[in-house]
Amino acid sequence: MDLREAIYTRRAVREFTAEPVDEKTLRQLIDAAIQAPSAVNQQPWSFCVVRDRALLARISREARALLLKAAPAVLAPSPRFQELLRNPDFDIFYHAPALIVISSVAESPWTVENCSLAAENLMLAARAAGLGTCWIGLAQLWIATAAGKAALNLPANYLPVAPIIVGHPKSEPQPVPRKEPEIRWIGA
Ligand SMILES: Cc1cc2nc3c(=O)[nH]c(=O)nc-3n(C[C@H](O)[C@H](O)[C@H](O)COP(=O)(O)O)c2cc1C
Repeated sequence: MDLREAIYTRRAVREFTAEPVDEKTLRQLIDAAIQAPSAVNQQPWSFCVVRDRALLARISREARALLLKAAPAVLAPSPRFQELLRNPDFDIFYHAPALIVISSVAESPWTVENCSLAAENLMLAARAAGLGTCWIGLAQLWIATAAGKAALNLPANYLPVAPIIVGHPKSEPQPVPRKEPEIRWIGA
């Protein structure tokens, strides 16, 4: 698949088969992620690969509870998510077989940028490999807690930026229409 096709056909995938993603493939995705640019070439990203189903279920449960209790602002834009999070059967990871959390040191001014660029590379590489991904923002708040960092073995000074689920898509999601971009042309 060429780059244009990967960019234009990548979708947030929320339905997966039960097939696991093998370690070699996960390593290839991480290798694509680290080809991203980084500020001052620090390449500061760190990847945590979670394939433990019980841990994924625990993160989902605790992240839902925390969001409902502590983060109405995160949920405000989406009444649909508020509804879903109240459903004890809702898995924020959509039963994906793997979660890759991209993190870096919280003190750097470019942590979010560096990790996000790596995340997009990873998602495009996954698409090119026939895999599906989705950034799970709903997991971020809980993973950033002391309990979340302990569960993922992340140092206390790390900021988890991009929790990305990875799996074999069960179906091909419909494209989400794009709005007209706001563009200001300055000069000819
Ligand atoms: C920062 C960020 C957080 C997101 N969080 C979630 C999430 O928690 N759950 C979810 O189902 N999708 C999540 N998404 C996926 C978006 O909903 C999705 O990318 C958007 O609807 C556009 O669809 P597309 O990716 O198929 O083009 C997130 C995407 C981004 C970039």
